Amino acid sequence: MHCIKKVTDDLIWVGANDRRLAMFEGVYSVPKGVSYNSYLLLDNKTVLFDTVDKSVRERFVENVTEALGGRPLDYLVVQHMEPDHSAGLRDILTLYPGVKIVVGAKTLAMIKQFHDFEVDCRVLIVKEGDTLETGRHKLHFIMAPMVHWPEVMVTYDSTDKILFSADAFGCFGALNGALFADQVDFAKDYMDEARRYYTNIVGKYGTQTTALLGKAAGLEIALVCPLHGFVWRKGFGDILSKYLLWGAYKPEEQGVMIAYASVYGNTENAAEILASRLWDKGIKVEMFDVSVTPDSEIISAAFKWSHLVFASTTYNNGIFVTMEALISDLVAHNIQNRTVAIIENGTWAATSAELIRERFAGCKNINILENMLSVKSSVKPAQLEEIDLMAEAIASSI
Ligand code: FEO
Repeated sequence: MHCIKKVTDDLIWVGANDRRLAMFEGVYSVPKGVSYNSYLLLDNKTVLFDTVDKSVRERFVENVTEALGGRPLDYLVVQHMEPDHSAGLRDILTLYPGVKIVVGAKTLAMIKQFHDFEVDCRVLIVKEGDTLETGRHKLHFIMAPMVHWPEVMVTYDSTDKILFSADAFGCFGALNGALFADQVDFAKDYMDEARRYYTNIVGKYGTQTTALLGKAAGLEIALVCPLHGFVWRKGFGDILSKYLLWGAYKPEEQGVMIAYASVYGNTENAAEILASRLWDKGIKVEMFDVSVTPDSEIISAAFKWSHLVFASTTYNNGIFVTMEALISDLVAHNIQNRTVAIIENGTWAATSAELIRERFAGCKNINILENMLSVKSSVKPAQLEEIDLMAEAIASSI
């Protein structure tokens, strides 16, 4: 049975939720589920913005059919070809063979990569600044390459001041019957998931995100309709201010994230002592055991905090496996503008500190503190002073 929601008098949410998905994109856990948003505009012409993932196609088709109420579908705007938003493309073409697919040129190429149906005769190709009048509404197309695929575009409805923002301003988490961010306690219950979503999925492309924010800055915006998560009609500044920081790789908070990899607890012990000393100085600390916590949560935290500490045992003459994976992922996500401190451990040949230092060498504006700690098997009383000095160095750089 259909399950649709009214966004405005003539805009209907026709998406669906998935709470069974174990790993989004095969790599990010989504314990609160995820929504795949699609929106149907009922003007003189009817316009569908994007489709959904294959897991929810059945509900999506019911929703579109119900919302159209027997009308034909005139346009399908494909803003993003990632399959979690384009798996319903064939269904829509089958149901509405007369529909015009509105796409950027790169999107057309991707449709042909993913699908084998005839598409050239059905497309209306648009470029930056092009418009489409559908009756009362006027749609403006804005290219947003690499937020977070190269073909992405967003659409601005200048009539009702609605930004269809594709992946931008999205969030993990099913909608649970709500639709608008102001219906829930977003700051308390969803901001962490919004950060985890942005940093892991789009985080590598901060420059492109900032460029899109620059384009959007000139628009009067009443509603933001992303492809995942809640629609913003109030308090959009809350998430926008975070995006301005995340896109520029600026920390949200002064404080320390400690990520440690410890085989027998001794590296963890060093990390715990440092955390204790930092709190004694009034500095906030968030700690993660990288062998337990998924990378996506630690990457999200790394984008949040100003200072990062990596504590790793040496393993196979290198960085411990889980820490190696985390750092590789962080570097791939373009982490920058952070102060870093390193703790290593090794029973006979500690190498992890130098290797961690090397891994960050290519990152922009990563200041690695001279004060490092090299543990030989376990922390000794004489090393407590070194930990104090590391805490002092971190404190004085905050
Ligand atoms: Fe939810 Fe980039 O797709």
